[in-house]
Amino acid sequence: MAVTWYPGHMHKAQKQIKEVMPQVDLVIEVMDARIPFSSENPAVKTLRGPRPCLKVLNKSDLADPVITTQWLNYYSQQEGVRALALNTTRKGEARKILNLCREMVPLRAQRGEPVRTMIMGIPNVGKSTLINALAGRAIAKVGDEPAVTKQQQRISLGNGIVLSDTPGILWPRMENENSGYRLAVTGAIKNAAISFEDVALYAVEFLLQHYPEALKSRYRLEELPIAAMDFLEVIGRKRGCLRAGGVLDLHKVSEILLKELRSGKLGGVSLETPAVFDEEKVTERPSESV
Ligand code: G4P
Repeated sequence: MAVTWYPGHMHKAQKQIKEVMPQVDLVIEVMDARIPFSSENPAVKTLRGPRPCLKVLNKSDLADPVITTQWLNYYSQQEGVRALALNTTRKGEARKILNLCREMVPLRAQRGEPVRTMIMGIPNVGKSTLINALAGRAIAKVGDEPAVTKQQQRISLGNGIVLSDTPGILWPRMENENSGYRLAVTGAIKNAAISFEDVALYAVEFLLQHYPEALKSRYRLEELPIAAMDFLEVIGRKRGCLRAGGVLDLHKVSEILLKELRSGKLGGVSLETPAVFDEEKVTERPSESV
């Protein structure tokens, strides 16, 4: 279930996370490797204070590996931050983070005290999947409720790491228009404010510019049309997305394109690079970053 965020929700989420933070040694922030900028919540930095943060670039199986490496380098230069790319749906992969967690809080590990960790992130980045994979059983509550529940339980993951069973759920970047589109392209938000067709057109425009070979190969095209709409027309006709009278069914072809992109049928596609991050971050209004 998608969460609709409004200021009251955001305030409540922050307050609840602040309350549990004194019992947390390390924050594990889950992001979508295809859109690290748009799936990151700047409030995490304020909420975690001096605690170290492990940034998990999740769904890396769907991202462009070259760009994921750029992001890993980018984050590893930030103080108190380590970054790791994961495909949480692959068995055993999630447990890679355990050694890193110990390394990042050496004092507690040396004293023989458990490292207390908490997973945070916006909806749909894979927080519950990660919790369940780490725990080795389905414990994360299904359904997105903002922030954390009061009845947090701690589970021991072995190796001296404990994890809160409920993630801190934060809101996605709200006011950057490109972020809204990119979140919609990846399926992180199902936002009625952006029509499905517009999302597909945004995706095609991006792919024509950055991943033309992936489009040619997936849709068996020698040449690509220049305009996004023309491209959808071409593949709509190829896939039989037509209404009576041979008119293109734009909704249907948009659905096909987005489904194939989201499931990795076009190969690894990343919608943001660290350069885009720097560029768009400075143009954001200050109110967005808390
Ligand atoms: P959340 O708690 O952060 O809200 O996310 P959740 O774990 O529910 O995961 C959201 C969707 O992402 C799930 O798919 C899950 O299987 C998928 N997912 C999580 N980690 C990975 C990953 O590393 N790689 C890939 N490819 N997928 C991952 P779903 O239940 O099918 O939901 P949806 O995609 O239909 O929304």
